Amino acid sequence: MTILVTGGAGFIGANFVYMELKEHPEDRIVCIDKLTYAGNLETLKEAMEYPNFRFKRMDICDREKVFALFEEEKPDIVVNFAAESHVDRSIEDPEIFLKTNILGTQVMMDASRKYGVKRYHQVSTDEVYGDLPLDRPDLFFTEETPLKTSSPYSSSKAGADLLVNAYHRTFGLPTTISRCSNNYGPYQFPEKLIPLMIANALADKPLPVYGEGLNVRDWLYVEDHCKAIDLIIRQGKVGEVYNIGGHNEMKNIDIVKLICEALDKPESLITHVEDRKGHDMRYAIDPAKIHGELGWLPETMFKDGIKKTIQWYLDNKEWWERIISGEYQSYFASMYGERLKDAE
Ligand code: NAD
Ligand code: DAU
Repeated sequence: MTILVTGGAGFIGANFVYMELKEHPEDRIVCIDKLTYAGNLETLKEAMEYPNFRFKRMDICDREKVFALFEEEKPDIVVNFAAESHVDRSIEDPEIFLKTNILGTQVMMDASRKYGVKRYHQVSTDEVYGDLPLDRPDLFFTEETPLKTSSPYSSSKAGADLLVNAYHRTFGLPTTISRCSNNYGPYQFPEKLIPLMIANALADKPLPVYGEGLNVRDWLYVEDHCKAIDLIIRQGKVGEVYNIGGHNEMKNIDIVKLICEALDKPESLITHVEDRKGHDMRYAIDPAKIHGELGWLPETMFKDGIKKTIQWYLDNKEWWERIISGEYQSYFASMYGERLKDAE
């Protein structure tokens, strides 16, 4: 079977690529990625060694190239991770979020229709449900919770979800959608809360906490998210939405304090800064459906996952230091050199 993975040079996509190569050596993985600032080909260095892995640099909005790739590869399954994913950037400049996250999804689905893929999977987010109040710990997002977005990022993801459902109903495209809570783990770009705080703490730099730091996120180890997607694409029901989360709610400030403690850094590094505009208060997923229908349960407890993650950032300093310095962006040219034509 050929699985086309978009956005595989990013955080979750790369973890998914590695999991598939390990768990399903019988499948071929074709990965496309535009290599935006968030895509890092170095992350896929080991994947390139696998004979059943192919990388091609491509924008999911580039209809001509995407269709040519489908013609050549005839993928059985498409998993669309590619997106602009950072809420703060969407507040600064929404346009690229609408282009990539909505129009890019349309291109991927048009190609999936034309070439008759058996499954088109859209990787979405719990942010499409908006937020929950802090004083109602009894409330959770279910698949029936209405979409009610706060940021240009979450609105673009919700727009894409509506389009996916429309392609299923109108054209019969065999789709599934997953909506996951906040991920953490190896290869996360150091602009997101956990890797940013680890990198800053190690450099004894201020740790910028938005507002009071009382906002709650529902953290899930990235491998558990990838396992859930794998189950959905192989056993999930066409036309369905699956929420993914592990009932692990934590306040931002507690996460930052935990990182200080683990790295033996003083809490005096914590600096409260102006709050994010429209900042969602609390996310909390009810994962009953995916548990009941597909038997999925998270395997990594937060206390173990965060230890593993901190250790990974300690062991792979070069990876994130090259990102912070901007050096990683020249990797593509140096890696491909003569072979640039095939990759582009
Ligand atoms: P990321 O920003 O780390 O990676 C995104 C990848 O997509 C990058 O490699 C980037 O180069 C690529 N990309 C961006 N625009 C592209 C385009 N036009 N064409 C091709 N490739 C393009 O993001 P992530 O955290 O790995 O998130 C992956 C997906 O999962 C996103 O769709 C996101 O909305 C969703 N998601 C993320 C989280 C989380 O906590 N990080 C949680 C739930 C859902
Ligand atoms: O819930 C899933 C979503 O989780 C994904 O769809 C997004 O792609 C992903 O980026 C993430 O969104 P968040 O906005 O929750 O993640 P972020 O790491 O940016 O922020 C987590 C919390 O920490 C949030 O309440 C804002 C806060 N924060 C973040 C940064 C970067 C800070 O207090 N300081 C910071 O410097």
